[in-house]
Amino acid sequence: MRVLGVSTSTREWGNTDLLVRHALEGARGRGAETRFLRLASLELKPCRGCMSCVFKDRDCVIGDRLAEFLEALRWADSLALGSPAYVLGANAPLKNLQDRLIRFGIQREFVGKPGLALAAAGVPGWVPYSLPQVSLTFLFLGMPVVDQFVGFAQGPGEIFFDEGALARARRGGEALASGAADYLGEPGACPVCHFDLVTTRADGSAFCPLCDLPGRWGDAGGRPALLPEAGAEPRWSEASMREHFAGKILPSGPRFKARLGEIKERQEAFRREVGA
Ligand SMILES: Cc1cc2nc3c(=O)[nH]c(=O)nc-3n(C[C@H](O)[C@H](O)[C@H](O)COP(=O)(O)O)c2cc1C
Repeated sequence: MRVLGVSTSTREWGNTDLLVRHALEGARGRGAETRFLRLASLELKPCRGCMSCVFKDRDCVIGDRLAEFLEALRWADSLALGSPAYVLGANAPLKNLQDRLIRFGIQREFVGKPGLALAAAGVPGWVPYSLPQVSLTFLFLGMPVVDQFVGFAQGPGEIFFDEGALARARRGGEALASGAADYLGEPGACPVCHFDLVTTRADGSAFCPLCDLPGRWGDAGGRPALLPEAGAEPRWSEASMREHFAGKILPSGPRFKARLGEIKERQEAFRREVGA
């Protein structure tokens, strides 16, 4: 087995790097070959929104070092991905990476490779979207999540004092090395993403906004949980992803082209109006 570890932190040997590296040590202990990549060192530029990769099914037009990340992910059988918590979410390089990978949500190249989602955060209670954002990378690429958790530490290296987090990272790496894709983490209110982001709608029904999954509140082993509607599929299912891209994204190209003349006229008129 080949396990890739990626940290999106800008602090070398900081807490995220250490969590990811402990996962790789767990994997190595089970005989896996491992590679570690600091995403920040690739200095990826932000997505330009040109949609060439999607509409032309081609590599990103930005000729930067994204190719190195893709080469590493192609090499790997599984991925341990970690981000620091920044302003309640993940950090910008993680979000940037997701945007740059949009094409792979469509053409499904990485489907089935197991993933381990890690986050390093300074303050318990200040991470509502951090870990979900890391796991989202796996969800939209069709990669099953074997575990997801947050380690708490503020200064770079303080994660050494969160021995539980380091041990759990190792266990996650061991799971990746085994090739198994079973989920080892806490159950959570949503049966798909296992996060507690489920909301109650005005009619009292339950809904996971991350997974686009409707249902009702019910009991799952003594915990309140979302019980999905019969036949409801999360947005991450292969059928839903196909429908999303074939039914919503791909038709937007010809629609836009047909409207382009009128858009240009309106833009010109509006620019004159605002004096820009
Ligand atoms: C710009 C910035 C925003 C942060 N926002 C949060 C936050 O919202 N919640 C939190 O728990 N920690 C936050 N932190 C603390 C980091 O998550 C914490 O220091 C973490 O250990 C950093 O990981 P690293 O060493 O891998 O970079 C923030 C740190 C920075 C620099």
